[in-house]
Amino acid sequence: MLTNNISGGRMKLLLAALKRIHPPAVYTSRQRCRSSCAGSGLSPVRDEALIVGSSRELVRRLGPQVEVRTGFITEDEEEAFLRELESGLRKKRYEFDHWDDAIHGYRETERVSWGRACEEVLNRVRSVAFPEDSQLLGPVHILDLDKTGYIKPHIDSVKFCGSTIAGLSLLSDSIMRLVKEDGTNEWLDLLLPRHSLYILRDQARYNFTHEILKDEESVFNGQRVPRLRRISIICRNLPG
Ligand code: OGA
Ligand code: MN
Repeated sequence: MLTNNISGGRMKLLLAALKRIHPPAVYTSRQRCRSSCAGSGLSPVRDEALIVGSSRELVRRLGPQVEVRTGFITEDEEEAFLRELESGLRKKRYEFDHWDDAIHGYRETERVSWGRACEEVLNRVRSVAFPEDSQLLGPVHILDLDKTGYIKPHIDSVKFCGSTIAGLSLLSDSIMRLVKEDGTNEWLDLLLPRHSLYILRDQARYNFTHEILKDEESVFNGQRVPRLRRISIICRNLPG
């Protein structure tokens, strides 16, 4: 996100420089997509790593600050979110035309209070992603990317968001790319299966841009990952 005005107004992302030159070498981490990937469309890449990067050292160093938990929500829980969100989202139009936006082909909303099923999931997210004494950003951010939509490299506003970003992926698998901001060509690709939760913390959140690849570029470790319409539900904490 990131808003100039959290309580209203359009969410404006702070863009960071775009870097797309990646060395071909790929190193994988120990986080793997186990049987819980079965609910996603990703059966061919089951048992493959969920995080690959430009060097073994980077994967090792950044690994603890990047998590992908597959099968974090069930099909029923996904449906509960869609039931709560679809009517509100449908009233909005996907935004395609703002060339300076960090997101292309999206609509978004935020929500403070949820029905029981969704609140239960969100409490699970909060308990695994944030330290117990963490002050959370009240509204949860909902981002609906059209099939042709994508998120350009950016770093979430340090003014409004703290050290941790946690997001659920609904409706589609996708690839999140982290690129070191200082131009050293360090990068990680995260495979985010549908129904998974990702968590970015600390340096992974402050020193690396993150982006969601467009369908045409959605290739993870040599494997094509079709990008459909994707809804993410994002929780953040407040700056310390
Ligand atoms: C954002 C963002 C990632 C996602 O809204 O700032 O990076 O998973 N979203 O949708
Ligand atoms: Mn972001």
